[in-house]
Amino acid sequence: MGNTTGGTNSCIVGLQWGDEGKGKIVDILTESFDIIVRYQGGSNAGHTVVVNNEKFVLHLIPSGILRKNKYCVIGSGVVLDPRQLLEEIAELRSKNIEVGGNLRISETAHLVLPYHKKLDELSESEKGDEKIGTTRRGIGPCYTDKMARSGIRVCDLFYPDHFKQRIKKIVEEKNRIFVRVFNADALSWEDIYRKYCEYAEQIKPFVCNTVTFMDDAIKASKRILFEGAQGTMLDVDFGTYPYVTSSSVTAGGAAVGTGISPKHIHKVLGVMKSYTTRVGSGPFPTELDNALGEHLRKKGGEYGATTGRPRRCGWLDAVAVKHAIMINGVDGIIATKLDVLDEQKTINVCVGYQFGNKVYDVFPLDLAMRGECKPVYKELPGWQKDTSGIRSVKDIPYQAKNYLDALEKLLGVKMEMLSVGPDRSQVVNLL
Ligand code: GDP
Ligand code: IMO
Ligand code: MG
Repeated sequence: MGNTTGGTNSCIVGLQWGDEGKGKIVDILTESFDIIVRYQGGSNAGHTVVVNNEKFVLHLIPSGILRKNKYCVIGSGVVLDPRQLLEEIAELRSKNIEVGGNLRISETAHLVLPYHKKLDELSESEKGDEKIGTTRRGIGPCYTDKMARSGIRVCDLFYPDHFKQRIKKIVEEKNRIFVRVFNADALSWEDIYRKYCEYAEQIKPFVCNTVTFMDDAIKASKRILFEGAQGTMLDVDFGTYPYVTSSSVTAGGAAVGTGISPKHIHKVLGVMKSYTTRVGSGPFPTELDNALGEHLRKKGGEYGATTGRPRRCGWLDAVAVKHAIMINGVDGIIATKLDVLDEQKTINVCVGYQFGNKVYDVFPLDLAMRGECKPVYKELPGWQKDTSGIRSVKDIPYQAKNYLDALEKLLGVKMEMLSVGPDRSQVVNLL
């Protein structure tokens, strides 16, 4: 797509609460890169890519895998559920997608284990009305163990005696929590040990030192695309805490989660859905809990790719997007799902939050939690034309162009690309 990639290495991040269409955009941009690397999150992510009517859903493997002659890397910042990974590999192979020497997994990525998923389930159920609405993929508990220095890493699997000792000790400890705190059943460390030894054999061919792999690639002037999962508003530091995920999803996280110096990330692209969605609990000022919200959900197919849950839908929240642009240092925006707004006579964009008598145009990290703010909207005319077949700028309806220009002005960042449908081909280069 022309100049869209800019620099040498680029990072793609979501500017909202996830599901912006990052997977589709990564698949398109992959053409101009050699290596595509995931740097955080785990199988909580769900990226749908449609190529010639064939649908691919990716959770752990970078969306770059769908293109030939590219390397895909799962970096050390990712939490890896080997069972999920093996299922994903089998699914891709059944659709004739090559997964072999082109996939590299960091030996220092942390493993998601059955007790992480169990703890995720139990603590969510325990929280009642205050539940985060996690994907129950064990993400929070796995990152908790990583930071508490009691995690198990991919490389540990290849030392069976050491692995056996650690897993026995950890499972016994977790079982005390399951039984005594949650009144739940204990897990068998032997079963986990046996299963994970089997997984170890199967994932072994992919595992390597991804830091030196990528360092060599940089020295050989290969181009790297960093693929963010989740969205900035789900970032553990800068999102709507505690209704967030447990990793650093921002462009800064790309360096931390891969071991590549930040100086090798030359361009940051933000993917922004033309309206807003959110799965799970937490504040969502522009939520439309009405027929229009339902229309967006139906037309946009807004059901979680990982859990199947209906996504909450609402107008574009430009206050949140501006926050995400600042945190990531976004150089260019890729606007997705414009087609979903085709029927609307008028379109609202939230330009401020009103708390009492005060209007904020900067995302309030503390007040946001109260969920009491009222969005202040700017109303723009809709275009009421089908945009899904548009492939060139000159065919964009006048009002739609006006909408994009207004956003560009409001956000202070150039729009580089427009997506008008789920298929790889449904894209307009705006540069
Ligand atoms: P991700 O998690 O950011 O990769 O996004 P998801 O794949 O979870 O959700 C985006 C959904 O919208 C997927 O079902 C995509 O196939 C679909 N999609 C992506 N871009 C467009 C678009 O421009 N228009 C429409 N109608 N659907 C899109
Ligand atoms: P992609 O990459 C949307 C949300 C969950 C929940 C919160 C914490 O497809 O954009 P977790 O399981 O991570 O502990 O859940 O984060 N969440 C996502 N929402 N898209 C995602 O990923 C998400 N990954 C996690 O719904 O609210
Ligand atoms: Mg998704």
